[in-house]
Amino acid sequence: MASQEGTVICPGSYDPVTNGHIDIVTRSSAIFERVVVAVVNNPVRKDKTLFTAEERREFIEGATAGLENVEVRTFSNLLVQFAREIDAGAIVKGLRAISDFEYEFEMAQLNRKLDPGIESIYMIASPQYSFLSSTGVKEMATFGGDVSDLVPGPVAAAMASRLGER
Ligand code: PNS
Repeated sequence: MASQEGTVICPGSYDPVTNGHIDIVTRSSAIFERVVVAVVNNPVRKDKTLFTAEERREFIEGATAGLENVEVRTFSNLLVQFAREIDAGAIVKGLRAISDFEYEFEMAQLNRKLDPGIESIYMIASPQYSFLSSTGVKEMATFGGDVSDLVPGPVAAAMASRLGER
């Protein structure tokens, strides 16, 4: 049962969402009153995304349909600006390994510089997901690997057909 009042934001590219992301969102929803999963609309990196922002949003919506206090939105502005728009007091992200730390440290400091009023909270990944990444899953699916245990069912199916088109 959620015990902390207010809204938190779980941002990311989610290209595509993995069971590791869903684990972080589910755990957040058990702690916080309202969780907004925020899908980056503009590509953060140079690479084109495999799925459109709307497709990525729909996958997460399907996978979190049972969580009443979770909503999924896309955003195209600065993360801290969007967090303000939806009245979120904190950013919640997962941390898998030391290798994540450097990037996340930079993002947390950047976001704090932009808006010191929004806290960054990191949740340690569950061990069964500590190796899991969207990039890894895409690579596995590209070469025909079985990703059905790693991503929600509709994502696995969509990846197979999207990557098959290439
Ligand atoms: O883990 P991701 O997918 O790389 O995270 C994306 C995001 C938006 C959480 C991260 O890039 C971030 O914290 N960026 C802060 C700077 C910002 O607001 N950029 C504009 C949106 S990309």
